[in-house]
Amino acid sequence: MFQKTFAWLDERLGLTTIYATVLDRKVPKVNWWFTLGSASLFLFVMQGVTGILLSVYYVPSPDHAYDSIQYIMNSVAFGWLILGIHHWGATLMVIVVFVHMLRTFFFAAYKYPREFTWFTGVILLLATLGMGFTGYLLPWNQRAYWATTVGTSIAGTVPFVGEFINRVLRGGAELSAVTLVRFFSVHIWWLPLIIGAMIGVHLYMVIKLGISSIPKEED
Ligand code: HEM
Repeated sequence: MFQKTFAWLDERLGLTTIYATVLDRKVPKVNWWFTLGSASLFLFVMQGVTGILLSVYYVPSPDHAYDSIQYIMNSVAFGWLILGIHHWGATLMVIVVFVHMLRTFFFAAYKYPREFTWFTGVILLLATLGMGFTGYLLPWNQRAYWATTVGTSIAGTVPFVGEFINRVLRGGAELSAVTLVRFFSVHIWWLPLIIGAMIGVHLYMVIKLGISSIPKEED
């Protein structure tokens, strides 16, 4: 019964071809450093799942943000666990993505024909850092408030356009409800969409080109 259903679907959707192309590929003999891209992908998905769960209780307004985080920590079943995973997962993701970048750099995997894979990687790194920056404000505690005040002030020191960037980030001269909602929107919509799209292109390149092998002495 199962085999018949699968064969019916496979004939129409080409499931075995998709499996062979995406997962059942020949890979050169590599080492554990080559698993960090998949680890980054896993962490992104984990951040997505825990983030969606947190959004059930989190309220992005100055009056309720702090209390909603306290509520998640103390009153929601396993809220502390979900928030803890999201909190530490963010730090881990930045580290893992960064070390993955170092791996591809030191193994010269950014060279022809993988320049575009590297280019999408740069956007992924910047967007991942952006997730950390925007997420840090959301608990709306003293540390979050002043860290973002400092962070946006640093952006304000960029020559010529600094003042403009600062105002766009804050949504005004000072941090306010506008800043919080702005950061929340970028954190849950804009950046995840950019990261999702870029991972799509990044993985398409990895599948199309295959992964590089470890450079040998004569290379
Ligand atoms: C969310 C972030 C990222 C994800 C999910 C991701 C995912 C992956 C995966 C699954 C691979 C396959 C090989 C491997 O695992 O090493 C890969 C390869 C690659 N990635 Fe990333 N990546 C990310 C960020 C980056 C960054 C920041 C850079 C560099 C700026 C980068 C550059 C590359 C390059 C050049 C390759 C080809 C490596 C090769 O062929 O040996 N990636 N990526």
